[in-house]
Amino acid sequence: PTAALALTTWSAIAPIARPDPSVFSAATIERGRLLAAVGDCAVCHVGPDALGLAGGRGLHTPFGTVVATNITPDVATGIGTWSYPAFERAMRQGGSRDGHNLYPAHPYTSFTKATDADLQALYAFVMAEPAVTHVPPPTALAAPFDNRVLMRLWNGLFLRQGTLTPDPARSQAWNRGRYLVEGLGHCSACHSPRNALGAEKGGAAHLAGGTVDGWDAPALMALSTAPVPWTAEALYTYLSTGHDAHHGVAAGPMAAVVTELAALPDADRRAMADYVASLGTPNLASEAATARAEALLSRAAVEPLDASALGQRLYNGACAQCHEPTGPTLFGVRPALALNTGVHADRPDNLTRVILEGITEPAHSALGAMPGFATTYSDAQVSALLRYIRARFAPEAAPWARVEASVARVRATLVPSGMVGAAPPVPPP
Ligand code: HEC
Ligand code: HEC
Ligand code: HEC
Repeated sequence: PTAALALTTWSAIAPIARPDPSVFSAATIERGRLLAAVGDCAVCHVGPDALGLAGGRGLHTPFGTVVATNITPDVATGIGTWSYPAFERAMRQGGSRDGHNLYPAHPYTSFTKATDADLQALYAFVMAEPAVTHVPPPTALAAPFDNRVLMRLWNGLFLRQGTLTPDPARSQAWNRGRYLVEGLGHCSACHSPRNALGAEKGGAAHLAGGTVDGWDAPALMALSTAPVPWTAEALYTYLSTGHDAHHGVAAGPMAAVVTELAALPDADRRAMADYVASLGTPNLASEAATARAEALLSRAAVEPLDASALGQRLYNGACAQCHEPTGPTLFGVRPALALNTGVHADRPDNLTRVILEGITEPAHSALGAMPGFATTYSDAQVSALLRYIRARFAPEAAPWARVEASVARVRATLVPSGMVGAAPPVPPP
């Protein structure tokens, strides 16, 4: 009976006349703007003009590409006729106004934790944005996933509704951080592994590392492979500037997250850092973290015995000028490879992707850009480079296995992010 109940369809919520934005106070709209930044609405719902919320970006899932829809208040092609209850249902339960189920590529499994007041402010913000007439390409998943009614069953299994109960034993900042990280911030959408049905794994696997658009989103808790353990201070710096000297930069899909978080008041980024730092990573004093970073850097100054000569030559020619810790900083930052989580990770995917693609859209323009080497280097050359970097900068870690295969796999998925119809899922390591 539960399954039968779960499979009944939603009813449509009656359309309304487009709300007049002047019914919302400026303070409510401003609050909604900040919450939209926490929720990365504009990252996924970005329109063809690279602005606004007009939709069209493809989200790659193992089940196919789900296209973000137009959520501007356009009456014909956006959500201009949506009442607040319709909006709330999409944010909390994954139901669209006309009654069809949404795929969880729209992270309602996290958004469901947002408070009523915050969702109302978000609604006000969205309704006060300019209406853009735009019909994004439709989502067309292969059978059986094209049957959206199945998501009713999926929700029955995996959607846990309800807001978070504040933990009185923790500080107000910690509770605020948890609310932002676990709710609208949907950090787990990328940083948690998923099961065979595409649902985030919970419990001990929560924030234990996931994949997104061919990138590994590293573990944020005790399983973190960051060579220098994250402190609350380092997390705050990283989330605020996209860079921390003991860790490196926020690139790939994390760059846009950091760009959005810049809109928030400082206290909110601090709160998020406090919460993430509490997730089980040893909470190192900052002097201890500095000592650890210095030890890793001085170890990396020694040339490894088993380094490939080709890899070393390529590194010296192509990377050293910008990445050796001692050189002059001409522009941007000089991330030390010895401190980079990706260099110490179980597989070389993030490092490979950075080498091939470069970094064209920094989290902050002050970080500088990095050239990509996809057209310069063959798979064999990139593999030699990877082996050298691993041996020199992460000598305690086992050499990566099947490096050539992984370079070929990453190269095959090099597409400008967000183009519809790309990137097959990445197999587990
Ligand atoms: C990770 C990407 C992602 C983020 C972040 C995201 N969305 Fe979505 N959203 C989607 C996708 C994809 C769909 C379409 C899902 C489908 O068609 O099944 C969607 C659908 C929706 C819908 C339903 C629209 C309709 O036509 O049915 C609403 C409303 C919505 N999103 C609002 C938001 C708001 C507000 C935010 C920010 C708080 C947000 N989304 C953040 C990906 C995202
Ligand atoms: C769209 C996917 C996505 C979302 C959402 C996301 N992250 Fe990330 N995050 C990544 C990826 C990918 C990386 C790896 C970036 C790199 O290697 O440069 C990363 C890296 C990080 C790192 C650095 C980890 C390390 O050891 O190097 C931290 C810390 C982090 N994210 C925190 C957060 C927090 C907090 C949130 C929620 C506010 C969040 N992330 C949301 C994808 C995401
Ligand atoms: C012209 C200078 C320049 C060159 C050459 C260069 N890089 Fe970078 N690299 C940068 C900058 C700047 C960043 C930080 C960019 C940002 O985040 O905006 C960076 C970032 C990185 C990161 C961190 C990415 C992350 O997600 O944490 C890695 C790893 C990296 N580079 C490896 C390499 C390797 C390997 C080479 C040689 C094949 C190389 N770089 C060549 C300038 C350079």
